[in-house]
Amino acid sequence: MDNNIKMDRRSFLKKAAVGVAAVSVSCVGLTYVGTIQPEIEQPRYTGEIMNTNKRILVTYATRAGSTAEVADFISKQLVQQGFSVDLQPVKQVSDLSGYQAVVMGSPIRMGKWVGEANQFLQNNNDVLSKKPTAAFTVCMPQIEDHQQAFDGYLTQIKAYHTPNEAAFFLGKMALEKLSFLDRFISKTLKAKDEDLRDWEKIGAWAQALPNKLSLN
Ligand SMILES: Cc1cc2nc3c(=O)[nH]c(=O)nc-3n(C[C@H](O)[C@H](O)[C@H](O)COP(=O)(O)O)c2cc1C
Repeated sequence: MDNNIKMDRRSFLKKAAVGVAAVSVSCVGLTYVGTIQPEIEQPRYTGEIMNTNKRILVTYATRAGSTAEVADFISKQLVQQGFSVDLQPVKQVSDLSGYQAVVMGSPIRMGKWVGEANQFLQNNNDVLSKKPTAAFTVCMPQIEDHQQAFDGYLTQIKAYHTPNEAAFFLGKMALEKLSFLDRFISKTLKAKDEDLRDWEKIGAWAQALPNKLSLN
């Protein structure tokens, strides 16, 4: 009788362990599947201007592509002003020497610049602190007082690096470009497809950058 109870208990524990393991593997698998991101274009190019030694790095992180498009737009504005510009995703930047200035951008996710953008600031703060730098943030604050949100984002950025110039631009929500999990979170927050980017404002900021960073 005792033996039977022991056997039952043992086989119950075995089955429970197999069950827990199966559920854990399924959860990890589902979480992984939920975070798979649709392919997003991440432009990288050099806008070369002859007869200038003024070279600017414009680097960015993006999840759904809208910050990449803003970075591309800023780069082209700087090229038009006579600067040679390298546009690169932050993960691909290997060397900051040779740049007169660095312009960096990231979207906000859950109140912060995204991981690789913060990592870039943290890893390169020593070098960045010796050059003029500008940071642009693409975001869609949920609170009415946008300035309050921007102030919070700037405080977060400054934990890693203090840029000479910082700007905040309203961004874009494109649900089809999000992972399943991000789309789920966004829909829960009643987010809908919209593009609030103000290209005139972004253009004016880019036009004013060389003066603000004393590059002229
Ligand atoms: C899952 C998720 C979380 C977000 N969290 C914030 C946030 O905390 N604050 C904010 O201002 N914007 C937030 N946004 C809005 C994005 O910053 C905005 O859509 C931006 O344009 C995205 O840039 P990207 O297209 O380069 O990824 C969030 C967007 C998503 C999809």
